Amino acid sequence: MTYFLGIDSSTTATKALLLAADGTVIGVASSSYEYETPRPLWSEQSPALWWTAVVDSIRQVVAETAVPPTAIQAIGLTGQMHGLVLLDEAGAVLRPAILWNDQRTGAECNEMRAMIGKARLIAITGNDALPGFTAPKILWVKNHEPEVYGRITHILLPKDYVRLQLTGEYATDKAGAAGTQLFDVRQRDWSDEVVAALGINRAWLPETFEGTAVTGHLSPAAAAVTGLPAGIPVVAGGGDQAANAVGTGAVVDGIVALSLGTSGVVFASSDEPIVEPDGRLHAFCHAVPGKWHLMGVMLSAAGSLRWFRDTLAPGVSYDALLAPAADVPPGSEGLLFLPYLTGERTPYPDPLARGAFVGLTVRHTRAHLTRAVLEGVAFGLRDSFELMKNAGLPAITQVRASGGGVKSALWRQILADVLQAEIVTINTTEGAAYGAAILSAVGTGAFESVETACQQLIRVTGSARPGRDTAVYDQLYPLYRQLYPALKPTFDATQQLG
Ligand code: XUL
Repeated sequence: MTYFLGIDSSTTATKALLLAADGTVIGVASSSYEYETPRPLWSEQSPALWWTAVVDSIRQVVAETAVPPTAIQAIGLTGQMHGLVLLDEAGAVLRPAILWNDQRTGAECNEMRAMIGKARLIAITGNDALPGFTAPKILWVKNHEPEVYGRITHILLPKDYVRLQLTGEYATDKAGAAGTQLFDVRQRDWSDEVVAALGINRAWLPETFEGTAVTGHLSPAAAAVTGLPAGIPVVAGGGDQAANAVGTGAVVDGIVALSLGTSGVVFASSDEPIVEPDGRLHAFCHAVPGKWHLMGVMLSAAGSLRWFRDTLAPGVSYDALLAPAADVPPGSEGLLFLPYLTGERTPYPDPLARGAFVGLTVRHTRAHLTRAVLEGVAFGLRDSFELMKNAGLPAITQVRASGGGVKSALWRQILADVLQAEIVTINTTEGAAYGAAILSAVGTGAFESVETACQQLIRVTGSARPGRDTAVYDQLYPLYRQLYPALKPTFDATQQLG
């Protein structure tokens, strides 16, 4: 038997997954770390943490599975997107990485719009400037840490710092590169126009590769610390969302990946580069060679339910919390919930957006509030579906759901009714690391293409279809849509009052 290793360096842990050539996940090991918030809105991490965790998790998964290291055919990489890693000439880290969830760069986003023009920026990169993306972070360093800026020789994403340690090569994948906002999403290469307008030296940026391309081989130094043989090919892989989409089979038109974790992500593959004209959806390259994707990101999805449980029903299990909500009628008897507990990204890129229950009466019980949370998150996700339809995405035929939230049959049914689409669960639950392993298997010839690999490996295990409550939710959705514009002035005013 031969094996493929997928490595996912996320914000909180690095996971190493061993995939057997027959598609079985043989083992997964993970090693955790923290990130720092040195100031409000800031989020940083030392790249050394990723590398230590990569070595730990590789050693752990090999030891636990007893797979002979020589049977590992290839390594695929994935990880948190958008993070800024700055290196000097010798490849040494210049400052802690600034992460995707860092919000310090509002002024630099305005600077980018002023330098390039908002419409032009969206036309080239597929996206409006967003504090989470990499490009405004580079401008922030230029504006606030000129001594660091002056020493930059290489710019990498977190996953590509891991690649550098594994192979000695400076390289990235096109899905991740698109998330920097320095990328021409249609041409699938760095945008000379954007790079020059922002005053960035193109030589700082690594070469970009399709998700299945081999970018280098395990170096003797990395072999010595990981315990793997030198020379194993390392493929480009993809940013975590694109790799997760591979891991769930969202690699063809019509199949959408819905991830219901702390955040909620709606990810649709597309054969053509589709850009939403106002840049409210992210438009990036896919990790599938020659494909693109649209993506909507809700910041507090299952995170809303966790907050609700921890705050209003501490110690209660999710099963016990959700069971009575199944008996509440759809629409929670006039109660609506707005899920912007940590600000929002899609459809309102607004860090000051806030959550709300609207329509409370003394009749409402905890079960009503619980159901309203499930419904409010579903309405928020429908916003992304509507934007995708309006942007010209081919009809959505199936939604493949993953993440903690979809363990609830009630929530899956509410999602099917609100989104008016079949919501299916699948046999694979390891997400991005699994997708990275598939990309490495395809890249080294174990499968003909990513699409055929997904077809062979991923099976539907359960399904919820739109049912009798669909019509009620269709009537409620426009009321939900009224809430944000109506409450926005209040959100801003309460923020100013502190
Ligand atoms: C995607 C995004 C997150 C990070 C975190 O746009 O910001 O998925 O990659 O893992």
